Formats: sequence, structure tokens, C-alpha cells
Amino acid sequence: MSENPLAPPRLRFPTDASELVDRIWPASATRTDGGALAIGGVTAADLVAQFGTPLYVVDERDVQSRAVRVRNAFSEAFEGIGTRAHVYYAGKAFLTTQVVAWMAEADLRVDVCTGGELAVALAGGIDPAMLGFHGNDKSDAEIARAVEVGVGTIVLDSHEEVQRVARAAADAGVEQRVRIRINSGVHASTHEYLATAREDQKFGIPLTEAVAAAEAVRAEPSLVFVGLHSHIGSQIFDESGFREAARRLMDVHATLVATGPVPELNLGGGWGIDYTEADSAFAPEDVADALAAIVAEACAERDIPVPEIAVEPGRYIVGPAGITLYRVGTIKPVTLETGDGSDARTDDAETGHATRTYVSVDGGMSDNARPALYGADYTARLARTSEAPAVLTRVVGKHCESGDIVVNDEYLPGDVHRGDLLAVAATGAYCWALSSNYNHVGRPPVVAVADGTARILVRGESIDDLLARDTGVAPVA
Ligand SMILES: Cc1ncc(COP(=O)(O)O)c(C=O)c1O
Repeated sequence: MSENPLAPPRLRFPTDASELVDRIWPASATRTDGGALAIGGVTAADLVAQFGTPLYVVDERDVQSRAVRVRNAFSEAFEGIGTRAHVYYAGKAFLTTQVVAWMAEADLRVDVCTGGELAVALAGGIDPAMLGFHGNDKSDAEIARAVEVGVGTIVLDSHEEVQRVARAAADAGVEQRVRIRINSGVHASTHEYLATAREDQKFGIPLTEAVAAAEAVRAEPSLVFVGLHSHIGSQIFDESGFREAARRLMDVHATLVATGPVPELNLGGGWGIDYTEADSAFAPEDVADALAAIVAEACAERDIPVPEIAVEPGRYIVGPAGITLYRVGTIKPVTLETGDGSDARTDDAETGHATRTYVSVDGGMSDNARPALYGADYTARLARTSEAPAVLTRVVGKHCESGDIVVNDEYLPGDVHRGDLLAVAATGAYCWALSSNYNHVGRPPVVAVADGTARILVRGESIDDLLARDTGVAPVA
């Protein structure tokens, strides 16, 4: 057997199609002596026997240690330049009350971007002063609620929000701390839908209008201007975008320092994680050191005090700590023409044909929308080991869309069969968060595993849950 010409160049033909590459899988993921996949000391088979499939599994200790590692990295780097760093966990990546509690224990703050996320954060018991509130279209009710509960900072996303938040704060008789989200115009090197600081998109206030917006904030007695905010996008590996955004923001920051206090600067999140072996994530220490160096240099050049720094990673903290387990169903080999037979990479070079094996699983785009949304790549492994030669597969879901792909390209053992358990790595961020009921499929449960035990964080939805919202079945009282 050899590599398949239908495979993308990034996909290495594996010597062992059961191998768990450490940097892609949760810290506790391992193979037992018998070859069974285990996470948090619980085998995939036991988890599925208890909770069924599909199933989101979160390595609790991994989430906690990643949160602590980021906090320590930023504290050390910014203490080194004489200031403090505040790490906000970006709740949009994956938010439950338990996740909020983990972040608070690790001394992280939490960033929310809707009234719903705010409600979860509050139910999770975090001090509201530790919350940041984002959103490009906050409703009056959301703004009023954020002000009323005492959210630490509201991130203003448009000129009109200056007056709207000022009014809400005045009505509540409080002074509300606010940041201004700036569109730095930096084109992050990532999928177009994940780049949030191109000129032609909805987030923030253009760099050229930042000074006017800050002056408007300062003119409102019910607002306290905390500083500027920038988030250039998500799943970014090229650090030059972060550097450029920080530099551009520091220019405006310095201009504003000349006319009043600007105690903080928020540099957002967006650090990429390893979904496949082709990815190479930053270490948080490297991000922290690089950002600290830029901020220190920019402040020294402009002879201004070093501000406190905030960052907002989401994916980095929870993404690699989660996996999804599925049950394999229909398997369908599809043979395709590869051209004139001249491709030297294939056993089929002479015939000009190659086979891709479609492996269906009992979930799909309803529990992981990222491949369909962004063409995201993932890594999959069977829950058992196998010596069978690897075959090129495409793991697909059960939904009525040809774009319902879970893992676009993966080599799996050739003896993969109906009933096998399959694990997809690095699904801790933006999978449960983006899940849907497409095709009336209930959203799977989320369990946390640690020290050989599993506990449910969010229960799964049954068809009864879904029917309970249909007024033909459950009439509105
Ligand atoms: C404003 C803001 N901050 C932080 C994040 C977190 O990004 P990531 O999960 O890539 O770190 C996002 C996500 O897009 C965001 O929009």
C-alpha cells in the first residue's frame, strides 16, 4: 500500500494509522495496553456505553492547565515590562457554567458576546466585574442587562453604541467602563470568514475614526474610557498579523494618551491550534513574549507609560482538550479517475484510478459545522488499533448535504467497518458552540473526563426535546 493520489500534499501516509500525535490530541489521550483509546482515564468504549454517540468529550485537566499556562505566560511576559496582563477566555469557543468556573479558578476573566453567553457566565458564578461584553449588534436589553449586573467592560463596536451604552449607564446611575473595538485593517492570514479586521467587514470602528470615537466616549460622564481593542481573526499561525495590529493600535493609543488616561490595551485572541500534523501552533509563551516586546518597544519609542494588556484567547484554551466520538455506519468506496496515470505517487499510476473510502458516522455538520463553514481540516482515529494497511478516507456525516464532511482527508486502517468507534481530535472549540438541530438531530451531550471518571456537563437533546417546541405536538398554553 502507498499514498493515494487523491490525498492532499499535507497529508502524510502513516506508518501507523492508529498513532495519536501528542500535539493534536488532549493531554490525557492515550492507548491502553490493549490499544483502546482512552481520555481522562476512561476508554472511548466505556464513555460510549454510558453516554452514546455522537459524544463530545472534554479533558478537564487539559482545559485547566491550558488556562493556567496562558495566564502564567502573560503574567510573566508583561511583568517583565513593568505592567500587568489580564487574560479573558473567549466564551464563544465553548461556554457552559462549568467552563466558566474552571476559568474563574484559573484566575481568568471571561468574554461574552450575547445576552445568552452573559446569562451562562453569571450562572457559572463568576464575578461580573471579570466579564467583558462584545457584540456588533447589542440590543438595548443586552446593554441594559450588562450595565445592571456590573459587567467589567463593554466593548463598543460602533459609533452609535457610544450614546446607547452611555444612556443605559446614566439610566442605571453608574459609570460603565468601555473599550473601543478598532478595525485595524490587518488582513489576518486565515480563512476569509475568520479574518475580522479586513476593511470590508462588520466588526469595529476604522482606525482612522478611533480618536473621534474615544473623544465621544470621554465626553460622556457615564462612561469610563479603558482603552482600545483589536481582534484580527481566528486560527492564525502567522504572527506578523498580531505584530502589525499591535503596532497600529499603539499609534492611536499614544495619540490618545496625550489627551487623557488610557490604562489598558486589548489585543484580542485568535492563536491557531494544531488540527492536523500540517499545523504548527504558537506556544503561548512565545505569543506573550512577542506581544510584550512590541508593546514595550512602542511605548519606549513614544515615551508613554506601558498600559495594562488584555488578551482574549478561546480556541487555544479549549480546542485541543476536546474530542468527538462517533459510531461508524455506511462505508462506501468511491473510485475516481486520477488523470493520465502519470502520477508517480500512486500504486494506481498505471490504471489512472484511485479510491477514496467514504466512512459515514452518526453525526456530522450538526455537531461540527467547521468543515462546511470554513473548509476546516481535522484528524481522526479509530478507538481501536489495527495493523491493516491505511486507506484514504473521507469521514462524512448523516445529513442531507454533500458538504456534510467531518474529516475531509484522513488515512484510516483499511479494516474500518460498521460499528467501529471513531474519534475526531481537537473539537473542543467552536463545535458544540456552533451545533444545530439540522435534520432534526438532537445536539449530543458534553461530558468532562478526569481521573478515570466521566460526568455530564450538558445533557444531549432527545427527539422529545425537539418535539416539545413544535406547537403541533405541544400546543402553546
Ligand atoms: C472579539 C473576539 N475575541 C476573541 C475571540 C477568540 O478567538 P480565538 O478563539 O480564535 O482565540 C474571538 C473569536 O473570533 C473574537 O471575535
